[in-house]
Amino acid sequence: MISLDIKQGILALTETWSDRFDEGLNPFIERFNASIAFDIALLEEDLNGSIAHARMLAKCGVITDQEATDLERGLEQIRKQFECGEFQPTVSDEDIHFAVEKRLIDLLGPVAKKLHTGRSRNDQVATDIRLWLRSQIDLLDIDLERFQKALLNQAQSHLYTLIPGYTHLQRAQPLSLAHHLLAYIEMIQRDRNRLHDVRARVNISPLGAAALAGTSVTIDRRETAKILDFSSIYLNSLDAVSDRDFAVEFAAAASLILVHLSRLSEEVIFWASEEFAFVCLTDRCATGSSLMPQKKNPDVPELVRGKCGRVFGHLQGLLTMIKGLPLAYNKDFQEDKEALFDTVRTTRDCVEAMSILFEEGLEFCSDRLARAVESDFSNATDVADYLVAKQVPFRDAYQMVGRVVKHCLQEGILLRELTLKQWQNFYPGIEEDIYEKLAPNQVVASRNTEGGTGFGRVQEQLESWSIRFGSQK
Ligand code: ARG
Repeated sequence: MISLDIKQGILALTETWSDRFDEGLNPFIERFNASIAFDIALLEEDLNGSIAHARMLAKCGVITDQEATDLERGLEQIRKQFECGEFQPTVSDEDIHFAVEKRLIDLLGPVAKKLHTGRSRNDQVATDIRLWLRSQIDLLDIDLERFQKALLNQAQSHLYTLIPGYTHLQRAQPLSLAHHLLAYIEMIQRDRNRLHDVRARVNISPLGAAALAGTSVTIDRRETAKILDFSSIYLNSLDAVSDRDFAVEFAAAASLILVHLSRLSEEVIFWASEEFAFVCLTDRCATGSSLMPQKKNPDVPELVRGKCGRVFGHLQGLLTMIKGLPLAYNKDFQEDKEALFDTVRTTRDCVEAMSILFEEGLEFCSDRLARAVESDFSNATDVADYLVAKQVPFRDAYQMVGRVVKHCLQEGILLRELTLKQWQNFYPGIEEDIYEKLAPNQVVASRNTEGGTGFGRVQEQLESWSIRFGSQK
């Protein structure tokens, strides 16, 4: 369908499609087909991509410098109009690319119709989504560093605070609390490194692949890539418009971030229970019950744990959406956007919520933690190690300490409550210094292997992370 714009004396883009269409879309199908409700989020990237394309067209002599300047001015005007609410695309615009092009024609007239030369929405959308994701990855990286710093701050205050270490959620060996928190800093660092790797594959320009086969217009793809700060270009036009691997990779990286946040959330949730009481939630991040006045609920970590579901779901959704698609562009790809937008928003929100939780939402209860590590058998391995130092083979020492623990359990006492005589009944070589070995502080301090929880080793790690973050402490 076409219409004649009398004022301009030319055909205006008042209808989206070419002259081969006679009838308008069924109104439901128009809405079903449209992505403008969500891809409006790509406005900035669409404008920047178009400005780069216009400049390149001028440089290649496809349009004049004056035309490129006019196009750029019009595109900047759309940016401003959007900011002040004068550009509000509707469903009849279908998507952000058409919405911008139509507005540009309204603003500039005939020259605007030259913008789409040598380009298709297929390479345009692929470019926009990459530009958008690239900047979101950079913001997420900043979010993650803030979270690491919040963890580091807590860790720095708790080098000498001990916490039971668990395997199978059974008391295993005591740890420096800082060591426990530093483990999460390591995990988050891997997440950041992974994002960095994903970014490298996001940062490749598909622009100029056109619909699927390249274009006969003499454009310079490397020029637009340079202007948009892409590190390279896709070398196969079909691959350029068909590749959504980067979206899957990002969703996978985000899923692992959520896994890490969720594991920590789970720990905070049970640490905050009355049974553990290792942390107190401050009023800043805890909520009450509508019925039970005594309650303080850990809603923040629970929500973070719960939000894993949607991020994992988006990963699955993207994989499934792509798996049967023939080359090249298929409309199915329009589904990548909401999945990515929600993945980014959820992940960034969860990282921020956990940062706030560790900055001001919880306090570790050092007394309670100290009592916890003093009231168990998590020093049993150290008795075995003590015997090893006395030349008892480890397996024999291990069996012997098993008997000691069994005896203590029968008597309802702890290892440190055995008299020296009782110790010597188990092994005559045991001396008075056994009691030092049993003290939780000593148990932790002695684990001095690289990467271990010994205070010296943990101190090294605290220092190395704070140098890395350029913090003062
Ligand atoms: N809105 C579309 C998307 O998000 C833009 C590309 C449309 N291309 C096409 N040939 N229909 O994927």
